[in-house]
Amino acid sequence: MKELILKIAVTEFDNLNELNSLEYELLNKAIKAAGNAYSPYSNFKVGSALLLHDNRVVTGNNQENAAFPAGICAEQVALSNWGANFSHLSIKLMVVVALKNEKLTDEVITPCGECRQVMAEVAMRNGDFPLILAGKNRILKFEKSVDLLPLSFMNK
Ligand code: THU
Repeated sequence: MKELILKIAVTEFDNLNELNSLEYELLNKAIKAAGNAYSPYSNFKVGSALLLHDNRVVTGNNQENAAFPAGICAEQVALSNWGANFSHLSIKLMVVVALKNEKLTDEVITPCGECRQVMAEVAMRNGDFPLILAGKNRILKFEKSVDLLPLSFMNK
């Protein structure tokens, strides 16, 4: 028997100015996407942006429904768009943000378990990618998205 220690590589930034221009641009696309979320039930707008290998950007936002379980998270909307249209292009970077009263939240938003599982399968299909979770006062950058869900379920 032996103890295993799982390590996660994460960089913490104190403010948005510490991001490089590529990261900052994608963050702004995610903020813009969040602005178009349909979230009348939670009043919480989430946005996600994927930078693809050919520099194309794919975005998503949460789409809620009166039948609550039919609502879809921003990450899954973006990743489904990628899966439906661009799965031949690898993902270079993913950003997730949330708005409260139309402004970027102070703290980071951390993806729900279901979104982490979806990210893990995308990473398995076409290579893993760095993930930035950004708030006004704190930004976390994970070098590998799968680090958010160690030992995720894989049907193989
Ligand atoms: N939401 C996301 O879009 N992504 C997450 O990772 C967590 C939560 C959405 C779902 C719902 O529309 C709203 O945020 C409040 O939970």
